[in-house]
Amino acid sequence: MSELLTQLNETVAYIKSRVQVQAKTGIVLGSGLGNLAEVIKAEESIAYTDIPHFPVSTVKGHGGKLIFGELGGVKVVVMSGRFHFYEGYSAQQVVYPVRVMKMLGVENLLLSNAAGAVNPAYKVGDLMILKDHISFFTTNPLLGRNEEALGTRFPDMSEPYSLALIAKAKAIASSKNIHVHEGVYTAVTGPTFETHAEYRLIKTVGSDVVGMSTVQETIAAVHCGLKVFAVSVVTDLGIREDNNVITHEEVLQAAKEAEPKLTTLFTELVKQL
Ligand code: HPA
Repeated sequence: MSELLTQLNETVAYIKSRVQVQAKTGIVLGSGLGNLAEVIKAEESIAYTDIPHFPVSTVKGHGGKLIFGELGGVKVVVMSGRFHFYEGYSAQQVVYPVRVMKMLGVENLLLSNAAGAVNPAYKVGDLMILKDHISFFTTNPLLGRNEEALGTRFPDMSEPYSLALIAKAKAIASSKNIHVHEGVYTAVTGPTFETHAEYRLIKTVGSDVVGMSTVQETIAAVHCGLKVFAVSVVTDLGIREDNNVITHEEVLQAAKEAEPKLTTLFTELVKQL
């Protein structure tokens, strides 16, 4: 057996020795969006530091625990805090928890992130449902030997974000009066925010928002057959060129303010999965 599969099996065996919860839906909470974890009726929560082979999160605003419990009465497993490429993890480490969720029996993966808008019609606090993505030279997590037990060598990426989940989410948003955009997310490595020229370039290639996460997780999820749904919270307007200094604190604050909308959307969506 490959080293990766051996590690995944050990991780999964450890988690199963601690929790009974069988969840069909996994959720990853982005920067400043950890409060959804408060709404979850947790049955068990495991610190990343306790889980064999799990990387450990280092960024402010990231909780660093795997929560098993109920959201809106439905069993879920939630990553409160994710691993970013800019923290120095390999692309394979970034997506490790996604593979763990798959092996725990998860079928749907809900991702959230904070992102900067390059679409001039977007405002701080807006939500954008991802309908597609561009990897802007971020490392593909499937590079190297393919793990056939997880998925195929050359995965199709014509529908990275499930159209069925998008349709459900749009119906929920409209019934709850939550305004949502649908657009393209471009992933960069960070940790620098973009220069004016880079924001302009990212807009020109067809993106609506830019952020430092999500795409590697989506690729690994599609590879192993998970259905993916992802939402960006617009935390800053990258495209503004008037003295527009962007700070991590401002990103966290904007995410926090928009969070209730995201919580409603995710809660209602898991009920329909
Ligand atoms: N750029 C990249 N990542 C981000 C941004 C941004 O403007 N805002 C939040 N995450």
